[in-house]
Amino acid sequence: MEVGPRDGLQNEATVVETTAKLAFIEGLADAGLSRIEITAFVNPRWIPPLADQAEVARGVRRRRGVRYAALVPNVKGYEAAAASGVDEVAIFLAVTDGHNQKNINCTTAEALLRYQEVAARAVGDGRPFRAYVSCAFGCPYEGAVAPARVVELAAKLIALGAYEISVGDTIGVGNPRQTALLVRALKQAVPLDRLALHLHDTRGTALANIAAALDEGVASFDSSAGGLGGCPYAPGAAGNVATEDLVYMLEGMGIATGVDLEKLARASLALEAALGRPLPSKVLAAMRGACT
Ligand code: HMG
Ligand code: MG
Repeated sequence: MEVGPRDGLQNEATVVETTAKLAFIEGLADAGLSRIEITAFVNPRWIPPLADQAEVARGVRRRRGVRYAALVPNVKGYEAAAASGVDEVAIFLAVTDGHNQKNINCTTAEALLRYQEVAARAVGDGRPFRAYVSCAFGCPYEGAVAPARVVELAAKLIALGAYEISVGDTIGVGNPRQTALLVRALKQAVPLDRLALHLHDTRGTALANIAAALDEGVASFDSSAGGLGGCPYAPGAAGNVATEDLVYMLEGMGIATGVDLEKLARASLALEAALGRPLPSKVLAAMRGACT
C-alpha cells in the first residue's frame, strides 16, 4: 500500500498544490503501485495539508487495476469519502488511549464504537475497508506496548470485517526480533494474508524489520514514495519506509513488486521539487543523479 500522498503529505509544513498532488498520485499509479492511499477525510482543522481531500479524490485520473483509498476517522469522514468515489477506506486507532486522545480525541473504546458504525456502513455499501493499529511497537505517550494488547485489538477489527490489518510502528522504535515476536503473536488472531505492516523509519530499522516479517510470512507492507511522512501526533516521527528502498530490496531478493523504480523515482523527484526539500529515501538519493 503506497501511503505517500496521505501519510507523507499530512505532516508537511509546505502546502502542496492540489494539481501537484494529483500528478504525484498519477505518477505512482503509472509506476505500477496498485493500492494508493490518496488522502484523509479528517477534520481539516486538525490536518490542514489535506484540506483538499475531496478535490484530490474527485480529481485523480483513474487507472484501471489501481485501488484508491482514503483514511476516515468517523461516519462523517466515511460519507465524504464515499461521495468522492474512493474504492476503499481505512479506519485507524492506536492500541493506547494516550495516542488516541491526542490523535482522534477519544479513548480506544470510544474509537471502536465509532468504527463499528463506519464498518457497518462500508459493509452495507460493499466497500472494502482496512484497519490501522497504531503504536503497536511502542507509544510516544505510554512507552512499551505488550503484544497481547495489539493482538486483542487486531482481533476486534477483524471481527468488524476489515479485509486487512495494518500494524503500525508509528514512532519507528521496533527491531527485527520484536517484529518476529509480534507477527508470531498476531498470527493467532489475523490470517497471514490479511496482515500488513506500516513501519515508520525514524531510527533506520524499518527494512530490517520487514526482512524479519518476510521470514514470518507477511507479504503486505505500507511504504511512502521518497520516504515522505510522519504523524503530527507522534512527535519526531519520520516518514514510512521509502517505497524506493522497499522495492529495491524486494526485487534484489527475487520478490517481484510490479513497480518500475525509474518511474517511481520520477514521481518522487517531482514532488521533492514541489516541497523544496530532499526526500530521505536512500535509493532515491543513489538514483537522483541518474533520473534528473
Ligand atoms: P473532534 O473535534 O473530537 O470531532 O475531532 P467532533 O465530532 O467533536 O467535531 C468537531 C468538528 O469537527 C465539527 O465541526 C465536525 O463537523 C468536524 P464544527 O461543527 O466545529 O465546524 N468533523 C469533521 N470534519 C471533517 N471531516 C471529518 C470530521 N469529523 C468531525 N471526518 C476527529 C475528531 C477524529 C474528526 C479529529 O480528531 C480528526 O480529524 N483527527 C484526525 C487526525 C489525523 O488525521 N491524524 C493523523 C493520522 S495518521 C495515524 O493516525 C497513524 C497511521 O499513519 C498509522 C501509523 O503510523 O501507525 C494511520
Ligand atoms: Mg503512519
